[in-house]
Amino acid sequence: MLNFFSCLFIVLLLKCEAQVPNLLSVASHPRALYVFGDSTVDCGLNTSGPSYHRPYACDSPLRGRFSNGYTVVDLLGLALNLTVSMPFWENDKDPNSIRTWSFDYADAPTAILSTVSINQTMKIQIKHFEEHIKEYSPKFWPSANEVSNYLSKSIFVISIGTRDILDYYFDGNKYLNASGKISKSEFSDLLISELQKYLTELYELGARMILVFEIGPIGCYPIIVGSDKPPGWCLDELNDIICTFNGKLYHKLTELASTLEGSTFILAKIYKQIYDIVEYPDKHGLEDTKNPCCLVNKSEEIYCTPYMKPCKRTDQFLFWDKLHLTERANDLIASQCLNDTDMCLPITSQESIPGTVLMESGKLGHHHNILLCACSFLIQVIQLNDS
Ligand SMILES: *[C@@H]1O[C@H](CO)[C@@H](O)[C@H](O)[C@H]1NC(C)=O
Ligand SMILES: *[C@@H]1O[C@H](CO)[C@@H](O)[C@H](O)[C@H]1NC(C)=O
Ligand SMILES: *[C@@H]1O[C@H](CO)[C@@H](O)[C@H](O)[C@H]1NC(C)=O
Ligand SMILES: *[C@@H]1O[C@H](CO)[C@@H](O)[C@H](O)[C@H]1NC(C)=O
Ligand SMILES: *[C@@H]1O[C@H](CO)[C@@H](O)[C@H](O)[C@H]1NC(C)=O
Ligand SMILES: *[C@@H]1O[C@H](CO)[C@@H](O)[C@H](O)[C@H]1NC(C)=O
Repeated sequence: MLNFFSCLFIVLLLKCEAQVPNLLSVASHPRALYVFGDSTVDCGLNTSGPSYHRPYACDSPLRGRFSNGYTVVDLLGLALNLTVSMPFWENDKDPNSIRTWSFDYADAPTAILSTVSINQTMKIQIKHFEEHIKEYSPKFWPSANEVSNYLSKSIFVISIGTRDILDYYFDGNKYLNASGKISKSEFSDLLISELQKYLTELYELGARMILVFEIGPIGCYPIIVGSDKPPGWCLDELNDIICTFNGKLYHKLTELASTLEGSTFILAKIYKQIYDIVEYPDKHGLEDTKNPCCLVNKSEEIYCTPYMKPCKRTDQFLFWDKLHLTERANDLIASQCLNDTDMCLPITSQESIPGTVLMESGKLGHHHNILLCACSFLIQVIQLNDS
């Protein structure tokens, strides 16, 4: 009896794994990568910004990354046979290569809401993208159909929201309603409804495959956790706000995938992964998952002190400065995102990928995966009974 059940269980796992496509299979041979957001994916648009000086990007020939080397989108791009991300205005340099490039519109101080102290939102990035497509597409593709086809085979990546969360946590009294500071749930709703506008705009401009990053567990980052705190200690109060946002983000993407025809949204669930790295450094082959690798010599500062030597073994650290990850950590995230649907979960609408998995009204989420497993189980039992 025991043997019978464990055997059944194995069959079941294999079935489930085979039926949920990972990012590599959903996004094979993308035509281009278009990147939007904040410093987590910025490739150095601002040549006077902090990331333009060493030690930033010191382990690479690049400049402008908020890391010691590649960002997570550089690494995703490389794995998908595209270039590392480059400032979006470089699109005019080599028109013949345009099909394999990764264009980056992300700019460090960008937030979702325009109410934060630095009032830069994704609006300007989307405007740049729209201009880019209007200006260049007629040169390469004679018909609008061809442009749509090209864009529908590209991946759009968005990583944003860290600034909003920090602003709400530290300076939340500006987010008010009639009876005072709004709750984390109301704040998350506000962020999500604004983000939804941007995602819908991108869809209307031709985006079909959209990868959105969760906000990481910033309550565990050196910007919050002093070196006096025990390893693995995190500020739960801040992380709770982030979890509220991430949860609502998942539901919104599921909803958008079913309402925007032909769309595939992919949620990059980095929160859990980074949290796991913080808690279990050994498991992920890291030594230090608490301190920044570079020298940040003022307590109120976030960025590396310019031109100072970073830690010796950059590949042993999770954090690069007080808010950004090392290339090693970005690499752990990028590879897992490509291979593992626990990390990057494609949420597709029924129309876009005929013949795969798909469930009622095109929604594919965790609950549905569980449902799917249950179904395989039933089928299996029926087969066994028949024989
Ligand atoms: C570039 O960064 C510098 C230094 O942080 C800042 O003063 C400036 O406003 C930024 N420029 C743009 C265009 O964002
Ligand atoms: C990248 O290119 C190599 C060599 O052409 C090919 O084998 C591989 O499948 C490509 N990978 C992706 C993700 O497109
Ligand atoms: C906010 O944006 C407006 C319009 O772009 C600009 O005039 C203003 O200087 C900005 N304020 C700050 C604090 O950046
Ligand atoms: C204002 O925010 C409080 C706390 O989040 C909430 O309980 C209340 O319902 C909100 N009031 C209005 C008028 O939106
Ligand atoms: C930070 O380091 C720089 C470069 O060594 C030094 O000039 C500066 O005084 C230091 N600041 C503090 C607050 O220690
Ligand atoms: C992801 O899958 C690719 C292709 O199968 C493989 O080469 C790579 O090592 C995998 N990465 C991880 C982290 O599993």
